[in-house]
Amino acid sequence: MTAIGDPDIARAGATVGVIIPAAGSGTRLGERVPKAFVDLHGRTILEVCVAGVVDAAVATTIVVVVPADLVDRARRLVPDAIVVAGGAHRSDSVRAGIDAVGSAADILLVHDAARPLTPSAVFGRVVAAVRSGHPAVVPGLPVADTLKQIEPGSAGGTERVAATVDRDLLRAVQTPQGFTRDALLAAHADTGGLATDDAGLAERCGIPVHVVAGDPLALKITTPWDLRIARDIVAKSPLSAE
Ligand code: CTP
Ligand code: MG
Repeated sequence: MTAIGDPDIARAGATVGVIIPAAGSGTRLGERVPKAFVDLHGRTILEVCVAGVVDAAVATTIVVVVPADLVDRARRLVPDAIVVAGGAHRSDSVRAGIDAVGSAADILLVHDAARPLTPSAVFGRVVAAVRSGHPAVVPGLPVADTLKQIEPGSAGGTERVAATVDRDLLRAVQTPQGFTRDALLAAHADTGGLATDDAGLAERCGIPVHVVAGDPLALKITTPWDLRIARDIVAKSPLSAE
């Protein structure tokens, strides 16, 4: 049993499990099939994502969480992974993944299927930081745009600016997000907890979260524009020859 911040997590034998939430419907993408089952360049987003996790060579266990009616299809697509059914919210799907990993891993990474082009080095940095003693680690990038905070309830097609945020202190956070098993269990102990990422739930429990360098290739496919960019990248990279 690992503890939050347990230095034992650094031991060479600490095993890593990767949970891939892929049970969303992809409403903003607007394709006919759920997002993880959309074609990227001859392979589904899910297949490319799992291949990336396998290539990263950090995990002994890979759990994929998909819509209940697509479990059999996913098992055929990604035979290297354990496949289970997800839930209504992302956090429900992550919890299903945590249950499926059980005690098979000391370190757990949660990695969105929607970030299929994430380079191996990002996985390596996250795992290394957890092994170094941090209970919760996220990859993040500096923000290039100037960011404005707006007044709530702005209406009429214009939004009133309340403040300009200091972007030097902001990071756009990606996945994989890495945790000691106990940190992730604590983060998800409140089953009513909703957040757009798992580190957000950990923060609410008082667990310190650290940022390592992310990568632009870990972009999240959310909109048709993102899919176009991701398809373009795959078409022009060696990934497409696999
Ligand atoms: N996810 C999940 N279970 C859910 C909702 C989301 O496993 N009930 C997963 C998605 O499949 C995705 C990741 O969480 O890999 C990030 O979510 P998001 O990008 O929002 O994907 P969707 O929820 O599918 O998209 P949308 O919000 O546009 O419907
Ligand atoms: Mg969503």
